[in-house]
Amino acid sequence: MPNLVVIGTQWGDEGKGKIVDLLAEQADAVVRFQGGNNAGHTMVVNQEQFISHLLPSGILQGKKCYIGNGVVVDPKVLLEEIDFFNSRNIDITPEKLSISERSHLILPHHKTIDSGREALKGKAKIGTTGRGIGPCYEDKSARRGLRFVELCDPELFERALTEVLKEKNHYIEHYLKMEPCDINAIISEYQEYGKRLKPFVTNVSVALSQQIHNNQNILFEGAQGTHLDIDHGTYPFVTSSNTVAGNACNGSGVGPKDLGHIMGIVKAYTTRVGQGPFPTELMDDIGDQIQEKGAEFGATTGRRRRCGWLDLVLIENAARLNGLTCFAITKLDVLTGIDTINICTGYEYQGKKIDGFPGNLNILADVKPVFETLPGWTETLTHIRQYEHLPQNTKNYLEKIERITGIPIYVVSVGPGREQTIIKKNPFY
Ligand code: GDP
Ligand code: IMO
Ligand code: MG
Repeated sequence: MPNLVVIGTQWGDEGKGKIVDLLAEQADAVVRFQGGNNAGHTMVVNQEQFISHLLPSGILQGKKCYIGNGVVVDPKVLLEEIDFFNSRNIDITPEKLSISERSHLILPHHKTIDSGREALKGKAKIGTTGRGIGPCYEDKSARRGLRFVELCDPELFERALTEVLKEKNHYIEHYLKMEPCDINAIISEYQEYGKRLKPFVTNVSVALSQQIHNNQNILFEGAQGTHLDIDHGTYPFVTSSNTVAGNACNGSGVGPKDLGHIMGIVKAYTTRVGQGPFPTELMDDIGDQIQEKGAEFGATTGRRRRCGWLDLVLIENAARLNGLTCFAITKLDVLTGIDTINICTGYEYQGKKIDGFPGNLNILADVKPVFETLPGWTETLTHIRQYEHLPQNTKNYLEKIERITGIPIYVVSVGPGREQTIIKKNPFY
């Protein structure tokens, strides 16, 4: 059975957690390969809700979970999450969870710098999650990061932190005008984290390669979404990692031929948290209706998500960037009761149709979406489990997406619960 990569096609929060939890039943291992606890992935099983920020969404299915080298890990958050799941009778042991020795650590100065910079920027802020993600990836690229290798070796940790804090504290105190970080407090705090997490630390690339060699199948769980990708997204209103499918290789230590199928998660409409252009954003009652019915609040920061019509320019961009082989459409139930539904099929700029997704944000902020309008439906979808039972207008909406993008829909989600799903085709085959 081949492996599968699950990727967000929009600006995050497409419902990756739900779909990964569901598909994990057929997987032997689930791997996070980028991002950190900026992610918030929701799973709902037997009406119980679980949100994971760092643990892969295979954890409820009891599958082997990996945190790959491409993930930036706040060890405090990870331990809290482990304790939380343990308290809900989901045992997280080193047999269940492995963390790459090469994953970088989020340290207190990363969080200080993240929030300090955003505050300084005022209106021009990015609207980050404030979790220290950007500053941590910056240090990784600048070859000044600390990893689990260092966390598990107190001497190495102290030496590296002493060196790096000289520069960081200068910047924090004199540029951001904030309280500098206390090195001794960090050393003793992180020593405790190191002791608790050491049993989980391993070479994830080697472990995955053994599983692949044994014909076990791996599910790679993307975080964020394609348009938050540092290279391909709406830069600078993006996150600091590559969120596209190709990074499943770099971020977990697996070669490209082992990725298998690539499933793009598409929310039936579009949402975005944080700043940045959003061509199909709705600033009217329909936007409010979608926001309320879809309970569109961030799973990490609780911020209200901006809502708009489905934008197929984004989805086609994601199809190319990720090499998508199939879609899962989520939150289709939320569109019930809207008279007419718009789908954006192109952009106009200064009165002329333009090709593709512009890299220049001033252009993107000014484009006018070109819509096709479809009749909506009034039927409740949340109990439907077979594609044929969907209302005709709902099927027309889905088939329009398939026709325009040329990508087949394998999974349709009609509610947050694991069981509220229509499987048209098994994405593992
Ligand atoms: P992720 O970051 O991509 O995993 O998505 P989030 O968990 O941040 O946000 C998706 C939200 O929608 C969560 O509250 C899910 O429980 C919920 N959800 C997922 N699929 C569906 C669906 O088909 N219908 C409805 N109504 N809610 C859904
Ligand atoms: P999941 O995995 C939605 C957004 C932030 C901000 C930008 C940069 O749950 O889909 P960062 O803290 O990463 O430096 O913030 O990226 N962002 C997300 N938006 N879902 C996410 O993750 C996100 N992770 C980051 O709101 O606009
Ligand atoms: Mg989320």
